[in-house]
Amino acid sequence: MYDLAILGAGPAGYVCAIRAAQLGFNVVLIDKRPELGGTCLNVGCIPSKALLESSHHYHMAKHGLGAHGIKVQGAELDLPAMLGRKDGVVKQLTGGIGMLMKKNKITVKTGWGKLLAAGKVEVENANGREVVEATHIVIAAGSTPIELPFAKFDHTTILDSTDCLSLPAVPKHLAVIGAGVIGLEMGSIWARLGAKVTVLDVADRPVAIMDEDLGKEAQKLFTKQGMEFQLGAKVSAVEATQAGVKISFTNSRGEGQTLAADNVLVAVGRKAATAGMGLAEAGVKLTERGVIETDAHYQTNLPNVYAIGDCIAGPMLAHKGEEEGVALAEMLAGQRGHVNYNAIPWVVYTHPELAGVGLTEAEANAKYGPVKVGKFKFAANGRAIAVDATEGFVKVIAHPATDELLGVHIIGHNASEMIGEAACLIEFKASAEDLARCVHAHPTLSEAVKEAALASQGRALHA
Ligand code: NAI
Repeated sequence: MYDLAILGAGPAGYVCAIRAAQLGFNVVLIDKRPELGGTCLNVGCIPSKALLESSHHYHMAKHGLGAHGIKVQGAELDLPAMLGRKDGVVKQLTGGIGMLMKKNKITVKTGWGKLLAAGKVEVENANGREVVEATHIVIAAGSTPIELPFAKFDHTTILDSTDCLSLPAVPKHLAVIGAGVIGLEMGSIWARLGAKVTVLDVADRPVAIMDEDLGKEAQKLFTKQGMEFQLGAKVSAVEATQAGVKISFTNSRGEGQTLAADNVLVAVGRKAATAGMGLAEAGVKLTERGVIETDAHYQTNLPNVYAIGDCIAGPMLAHKGEEEGVALAEMLAGQRGHVNYNAIPWVVYTHPELAGVGLTEAEANAKYGPVKVGKFKFAANGRAIAVDATEGFVKVIAHPATDELLGVHIIGHNASEMIGEAACLIEFKASAEDLARCVHAHPTLSEAVKEAALASQGRALHA
């Protein structure tokens, strides 16, 4: 009998396991994969970042070093080696989670987990079935790619994001349906390695979830890098052909068009991975889309059955799941666990990167009336010029009356690292003036964040 059984060893599940073990719970962590870390470590965040980095180096060696006075001849792609490095990174990190489980004395079971009833879980693997009993059960089942009904994944021509991490060769022409986070990251990887990339999206700009200015700037910059966009495009059919795929769509002017490509990546979002876990049968309330319904304490409608991460409402982000794991473990231990959903950063790890936290300008205007906005371009930042990273800008949004920092949005080199200070300041309810008065080291890209805050006060120094 365990105190806590957790179904799913992704960032939500394994972090919940560690925090619960730290708080004195006897924990069992169950996952279908022997390698821990879920989608994020095995086929998501980590391998994609490894390939984004490697493909960026290749692109720089081929096209980007001349400006620095470095001539490179004969730079060649060794795709198997690049993919091998990515696999090595994944192995190192999933192995690391295994060590953390041992260190925290967490029992790990490999197999398909099913909820039988409150307090009872079944684990099935090649050795048979076992019933595990626990006082509390946590479902942290994650998510899987959404499949379009007219474009079923065949994993050779019609691809999901996992397939795109291990293509055996660089496609001549990769089509991508969905200009969201995955579409832009995967599109960037293969475009840098030499593929022609065409991205189709029903929305009028890429990453429509982020601040509008970021999406528009991203479209401009990625078009300059060679990516083609078909926005406002309604895809109606995807056919596998002898030569690859044929995509039929209606473009933004209402004209019917077709696009031929070698492969197509379908990246139109992800859905809660709750099928086949016996949840509905055990009486757990799910939405029509299979999302587990929880209250503010991550409790489902069944006593002592909880859910966290991608399989409940909210953004499907590893760090959101991790924080929910920590908060839940602390609540179960009688502490005051809490997640501030207004301070969850978003990052797209392209080059340049996109990052945002808090409200977009449109959301802030809708909530508080005309808000204060300050913008600062990296083209006016000394470090950005020195390192040849002048694309993009920082945008700071502040409350019109109180000056509370409501949102910070960055498109630029290393935006993923710069967004951290904005998330902390929003968490601490800082004002834009607080940010403007914080000393930032010179010369750094983060001075642009300070300058954008100054601009929101009408007093940028370098613009
Ligand atoms: P997404 O929600 O970011 O983007 C999906 C895009 O597909 C949207 O722009 C939408 O307008 C478009 N779309 C939907 N249906 C369509 C259709 N029938 N035809 C054309 N376009 C259509 O979803 P994505 O990129 O698949 O990623 C899924 C989730 O995974 C993200 O929401 C994110 O939470 C997570 N993720 C996060 C990453 C990060 O933090 N860097 C990286 C990768 C994934």
